[in-house]
Amino acid sequence: MGAGKTRIAVIGAGAAGMTAAGTAASCGADVTVFEKNRVPGKKLAITGKGRCNVINNCTVPEFLENVPRNPKFLYTAVSGFSPADIMDFFEGLGVRLKTERGRRVFPCSDRAGEIVDALYRYSESAGASFVFDKVRGIERAGEGFEIRLSDGGTEWFDRVILATGGLSYPLTGSDGDGYVFAGRLGHGLIEPRGSLVPLEADRDICSPLMGLTLKNIVFSAADDKGREVYSEFGEMLFTHFGISGPVVLSASAHMDFSKGSRYTAKIDLKPALDMKTLDRRILSDFSKYANRDASNALDDLLPKKLILPMLSFCGIDPHKKVNLITKEERRRLLENLKSLSIRILGARPVREAVITSGGIPVKEIDPKTMQSKLVPGLYFAGEIIDCDGYTGGYNLGIAFSTARLAGKSAAGSSGTGKNSLSGSGQDKKGKRKTMKIAIDGPGGAGKSYLAKQIAKRLGIIYVDTGALYRTVGLAVKRAGIDPHDTEGVVSLLGTFSIEMEHNDNGQSVLLDGEDVGGLIRTQEISMYASAVSAIPKVREYLFSAQREIAEKNSVVMDGRDIGTVILPDADVKIFLTASPETRAMRRFLELKEKGPDVTYEQVLSEMTERDRNDSTREVAPAVAAEDAVVLDNTDLDGEATADRAVEIIREKTEGKNF
Ligand code: DC
Repeated sequence: MGAGKTRIAVIGAGAAGMTAAGTAASCGADVTVFEKNRVPGKKLAITGKGRCNVINNCTVPEFLENVPRNPKFLYTAVSGFSPADIMDFFEGLGVRLKTERGRRVFPCSDRAGEIVDALYRYSESAGASFVFDKVRGIERAGEGFEIRLSDGGTEWFDRVILATGGLSYPLTGSDGDGYVFAGRLGHGLIEPRGSLVPLEADRDICSPLMGLTLKNIVFSAADDKGREVYSEFGEMLFTHFGISGPVVLSASAHMDFSKGSRYTAKIDLKPALDMKTLDRRILSDFSKYANRDASNALDDLLPKKLILPMLSFCGIDPHKKVNLITKEERRRLLENLKSLSIRILGARPVREAVITSGGIPVKEIDPKTMQSKLVPGLYFAGEIIDCDGYTGGYNLGIAFSTARLAGKSAAGSSGTGKNSLSGSGQDKKGKRKTMKIAIDGPGGAGKSYLAKQIAKRLGIIYVDTGALYRTVGLAVKRAGIDPHDTEGVVSLLGTFSIEMEHNDNGQSVLLDGEDVGGLIRTQEISMYASAVSAIPKVREYLFSAQREIAEKNSVVMDGRDIGTVILPDADVKIFLTASPETRAMRRFLELKEKGPDVTYEQVLSEMTERDRNDSTREVAPAVAAEDAVVLDNTDLDGEATADRAVEIIREKTEGKNF
């Protein structure tokens, strides 16, 4: 123990406690961690079903969007120790990480114990010492604190970091004693309740289904005024008291039962099929199994365990012959398949929750340091603070980030950190170079939405190169030429003019001076564009127009060959993609909105075919440039994709003068 060093007591050796201890010790403080269990990280060891979802591999803004309660409070902490920093931190400790669906990050070993060991080693090797004993009380003593231990003895510290967790999983030690210590020192408490907690629901429906897991469903919940509070695609399960599983736990974070609100859940068991298509499916199954009992006719549609209960919800006699099922009965079946309604009665107790919502009010804590505003020298880290996130690694992220900040500030070094998202440098001579951003990728990945977002956020021009091919397609159609007739199309080139104009409202394309923006978005012109785009002379013809605009302006250009052919020297190249199923689902939902009678299966098969054609065509095949960053947005929405892309752009252009 070095004389003159700041003496810090950290209460709790969980994710937050060990991180805070290691950080403070690395900053030169003399740190003692008090843990009432005989081992550190007991709750951490069981998180993520024992695999430990360490963090979410996302940007700082995305992270904060996933914190429904008090995200602003976390800004300094999460910016200073961001998800990327947390991943670097663990990798630096020798833990190999992998990112799974929903950007959830796990240790490659799938062992939460590896994370516990890494944190323990980190804090110990930084110099923190551990005392495995229960703290009985914390009292103010002069400018510092006296910690009372179970043998009645006391120890004096300059500063205390409370990292005692919440109330969830009390067997792991989270029994709320931190609230009591803080309360005695003058802090208030937002009543703790469970978040990410299983839900009690209508037993008539749930009990017979106990143990059944439903995958690939859409789970929605609405409050008693009918307002939807949550809707997500995913997995859930039935239990003896109600419902649980990933989408249910996530949904619970959007519900507040404390003021007597009630909620109703709706489960769409067949989200990929609209009512009409599903009805056709049912009819075809019914004609296939016309002579069977109803209870034996739904095997193609439903898991076995759900068939009898489903017939009972629909009031259909399971012994009834399928060919005798009435239209009304079929309508009820259809409705329940698309929207099985379950009344939610409440949340399970906080001890069954993954995390605790509520805790020490954020208004009593300085967000820049995590220091108490009421008791100088007292700091908070992790779940004890009234902040909580959705599932996906956000809650551990809150623990690590707040703990890092608390540890640094308590040890006396500045809490604010790196990770500024500041843009590229300015040219001191005032000369500006144009920035070129290339976005390529297959159909349905959301290129044009992304490019528009980037243009808006960076204040540069969006060039939609597909519109050029579409305009050639329109000219070819107007001339009555078959778009596959290469000679005919080539002979037409040069007999018309195409111009692009860019202003605040976006891009206009002019064919012989006429604005044809409204005429080129039809399905028919898509086919013309696709056919003419495979003709090398057409590509040559459009080449210089595309190059020129990028020479004169800062642009974000989207297409199929931007990073490979048009702008091989682009400053940033992003190849935007997503799984074929996701892209097909997006396109399907888009088309359905416009009305055409298509099925998801059709869209998926056409999309797969088009992917193959585009990526294998001889001229300018749609493939990622070698130096492109591949951005897979299967699990990201438009905003999150744009956030990630802007981050990529910032990383790639840092230090360049634009
Ligand atoms: O992106 P879009 O759907 O508007 O593009 C229309 C067609 O043009 C599409 O079939 C692919 C083709 N295209 C291309 O080959 N190269 C580009 N840079 C842009 C589009």
